[in-house]
Amino acid sequence: MIPIAKPYLDKKEAQYAYDTILTGWVTQGPKVQEFEEKFAAYVGSKYAVALSNCTTALHLSMLVAGVTEDDEVICPSMSYVATANAIRYVGAKVVFAEVNPVTYNIDIEDVQKKITPKTKAILIVHQIGMPADIDAFKQLCNEHHLVLIEDAACAVGASYKGNKIGSHSDLVCFSFHPRKVITTGDGGMVTTNNEVYRDKIKLLRQHGMSVNDRIRHESNKVIFEDHIVVGYNYRMTDIQAAVGIKQLEKLDFIVEERRKIAFQYHDAFKDIVTIRLPLEEEACFSNYQSYSIYLKPECKISRDDLMQALLDKGISTRRGIVTTHRETAYKEYCKDLSLPISEDASDRSIIIPLFYPMKQAEINFIIEQFKFLVE
Ligand SMILES: Cc1ncc(COP(=O)(O)O)c(C=O)c1O
Repeated sequence: MIPIAKPYLDKKEAQYAYDTILTGWVTQGPKVQEFEEKFAAYVGSKYAVALSNCTTALHLSMLVAGVTEDDEVICPSMSYVATANAIRYVGAKVVFAEVNPVTYNIDIEDVQKKITPKTKAILIVHQIGMPADIDAFKQLCNEHHLVLIEDAACAVGASYKGNKIGSHSDLVCFSFHPRKVITTGDGGMVTTNNEVYRDKIKLLRQHGMSVNDRIRHESNKVIFEDHIVVGYNYRMTDIQAAVGIKQLEKLDFIVEERRKIAFQYHDAFKDIVTIRLPLEEEACFSNYQSYSIYLKPECKISRDDLMQALLDKGISTRRGIVTTHRETAYKEYCKDLSLPISEDASDRSIIIPLFYPMKQAEINFIIEQFKFLVE
C-alpha cells in the first residue's frame, strides 16, 4: 500500500530527542527556546512562539487580536475545520467566503462583499501549501482596520514574493502534525514581528503565569509566580522541540524533493483535458504539502470511483479539502449557506500520495494507474 503521506524522520531526530530526555528537562524549556529562535530565523520573522498545535496557535491568535463574541471573522469554508473552530472558541461569528476555483485560496472579491462594521479580522489559509495573495489581503485589512491572521498550517517552507511564509504579517500559525511537511508529532508555532503579541501568546500558553518555570528554576532567589490572566496549557514539550530542530534542518531539502515529485505529476498529467492540476501563481512557491487534482464534470470516472479503484490497486488517496459549512458540526450554524465554488472544488478533487522519500517505482505506478483510469 502506498500511503498518502509519511513523515521523513530518522536517527537525527531520535538522537536529539533521546539526548533531550536525558537532560531531565522535558517540557517547554531550552529546546523550545532553541526551536523558536531557529524557526524565526528560518522564516525571517522577529519572533516565533511554540505551541501544542496549530489549532491552539489559531485560538491564541484570535485572543491577542482582540476578537470577541461581538465580532465577525471572515475565513474560507474550504479548509480543515480547525480554521473556523478557532473563531468559534472566542465566541465570534464565522463568516465563510468562497475560494478561487484554481488555487483554492480565499477569494478576495467575495471577502470584500462580506465585510461589515462587525468584521474584526480576516483569516486567510494557504491551501495545502499554496500561498494566498498576502499583500492584497494586507491592503484590504489596512483599508478597513482589520487584523490579518494567516493559517499557514500546511505552508511551512513555502514562499510568497521571495520571502518565506511566516515573515509577512503579525499572526502566522503553523502546524507540525505528521501530515505536514515537517513534524514534531503534534505541534504548532506562531510567528510575529509584534512584541506585544509575542508576550501575550507566551503568557496565555502557560496558564497566564507571570514568571515561567525556567526563570524560577534558574533563579538563586525565591520567586513566587502569579497567574495574572486565565490562561491555557498550550505548551510544546522539549522532546517535540528537539525533533522540530532536526526537522527544520531538513526542511528546504524536503520541499525541493516534494517539488520534484509534483513536477513529475504535472508533466505526466498535463495533457489530460478532463482534469485540472494545481497552479502555482506568479510570486508563489508551494511546498506541495498535498497534490490535489480537480476532475472536471466530463471526466470519465467519478471522484469516489477513482478513489476506490486506486485503493484497490494499493494507492491511498484522500478527498479534496472539506467544506466546513457542510460538516455536521456546522450544518445548523450555516443553515441555507451555499458556496457553490467551494462545494464543487471539494467534491471533485482528489489528493494523491506525495511524500519524501517516495520510490521512483511508486511514483511511476501512481502515474500509470491514474492515467489508465482517467484518460
Ligand atoms: C488549514 C489547517 N488549519 C489548521 C489545522 C490544525 O492543525 P493542528 O492539527 O496542528 O491543530 C490544520 C490541520 O490539518 C489545517 O490543515
